[in-house]
Amino acid sequence: MNETDFNWPELCGAVGPCIRPGGTELTERALKVCSLPAGALIADIGCGAGGTLQHLERSGHYRLLGVDRSEELLAEAAKRLQSARLLPGRAEAIPASAETADALLCECVISILEDRGAAFGEFARVVKDGGYLVLSDVFRKGNRGEASLPSREELLRLLSSHGFSLLMWETHERLLREFAVRMIFSGHCLPEPWGCGKGRTGKTVDRSAISYFLLVARKGGGIGGTA
Ligand SMILES: C[S@@+](CC[C@H](N)C(=O)[O-])C[C@H]1O[C@@H](n2cnc3c(N)ncnc32)[C@H](O)[C@@H]1O
Repeated sequence: MNETDFNWPELCGAVGPCIRPGGTELTERALKVCSLPAGALIADIGCGAGGTLQHLERSGHYRLLGVDRSEELLAEAAKRLQSARLLPGRAEAIPASAETADALLCECVISILEDRGAAFGEFARVVKDGGYLVLSDVFRKGNRGEASLPSREELLRLLSSHGFSLLMWETHERLLREFAVRMIFSGHCLPEPWGCGKGRTGKTVDRSAISYFLLVARKGGGIGGTA
């Protein structure tokens, strides 16, 4: 899916500043695994309207950078943030120096990228050695589901080929379904690969083949695990 196919700013008006299943509850689950020191730099790539950054800013514990390709959503984020730095940019060309982030978050963005390999290359460049990568998104189970969605196998391959070891993998299907219901009841369609009508192939999308993952990986540390 190309992100221009879907109006994220309009959805934000309906579902609030966290435009994804699980909200900051999932971010917190992941950050528990990272146990970052005070002053650690967290980069939120595809930060949208800044829901996660606002939550993290309130903790007073981190330095924060948000990047998104939508100027409209960055303007929304700026209204609710005080100290976080916000920059326009793309996951495939992150406007940050190499080895600067203690943790990089990319929440509900991976599935809409056209070049996931380029984004993982950028994650590996920007995260410090020993730093953390936190991803959450829709994925397809095995070979079922809309082909444009990543599978668990593809994600694990991308992690290990970019030098990340998997520390945690969880699925949160119930949260995906709850979010989908909120979208529908606020008058929105689901993004096409999530199961709105027919997929790109023209076949009806099999919604039972779609789930939501949360993963934490660490840069370096040898061969990727299979948590
Ligand atoms: C589902 S929203 C998630 C927003 C935010 N991470 C959150 O959880 O609330 C997807 C976001 O990805 C952004 N986006 C889409 N393509 C992108 C890209 N190539 N690089 C960076 N951000 C992108 C959109 O503008 C939108 O803010």
